[in-house]
Amino acid sequence: MASKFINITLKVWRQKNAETKGRLETYQLDKVSTDSSFLEMLDQLNEQLIQNKNEPVAFDHDCREGICGSCSLYINGRAHGPQKQTTTCQLHMRSFSDGDTVYIEPWRSKAFPIIKDLVVDRSAFDRIQQSGGFVSVNTSGNTMDANAIPIPKADADSAFEAAACIGCGACVASCKNSSAMLFVGAKVSQYSLLPQGQVESKARVQNMVRQMDEEGFGNCTNTGACEVECPKGISLENIARMNRDFLKANLNSDK
Ligand code: SF4
Ligand code: FES
Repeated sequence: MASKFINITLKVWRQKNAETKGRLETYQLDKVSTDSSFLEMLDQLNEQLIQNKNEPVAFDHDCREGICGSCSLYINGRAHGPQKQTTTCQLHMRSFSDGDTVYIEPWRSKAFPIIKDLVVDRSAFDRIQQSGGFVSVNTSGNTMDANAIPIPKADADSAFEAAACIGCGACVASCKNSSAMLFVGAKVSQYSLLPQGQVESKARVQNMVRQMDEEGFGNCTNTGACEVECPKGISLENIARMNRDFLKANLNSDK
């Protein structure tokens, strides 16, 4: 598709910090190449703001390759914008038309407080991960090579699909209850599907669900918005698997 230039109007959420009230500011941005990514368009906006001696818009990004999960933006009312299974950094301006008005807002969830403008604090996800999202490895020198344990192809594929979760938080942002169950379900499944994850499986699911509740995320009511908006196509089956694992762990619990 031949590249062209478009003029757009941006409505961008500006907020000094979590304590102050935010508001939508309007900016006119001209000559945006349709070949540029959404984040490059925001770079262009910030250059314009700086040239006019205004404060640039704070937004999160790192890899710009759809891997790190930090480019979490609500674009025209959709988490990561209009393209299915596409992170904000992989979204291109060819998805927009000349004269469009584009609304850009941060994730909205009590568990993801706003740090500044479009940047939210997603450290709740880190704490959930730290509470159980790992496999303890014996590093005494007798460690078994992971490839020495045969794993059925179907299990390996399902574990790999769950491991594709990049921890972006779109599932939380698009859920009417701010539920984090798709994220936690993916992180639990990634291990519970593999033999290496069995040793700590009971404590893992109990600890991760407990931490999720402590962080203030809501419950799942099976609306499915999380699966629709997830940029990595994480399936609701991961939530069902986590619920089964959690039930089993509690039934067999000595606590
Ligand atoms: S499940 Fe999907 S939407 Fe949720 S954090 Fe993982 S990649 Fe993002
Ligand atoms: S910047 Fe890393 S996923 Fe978008």
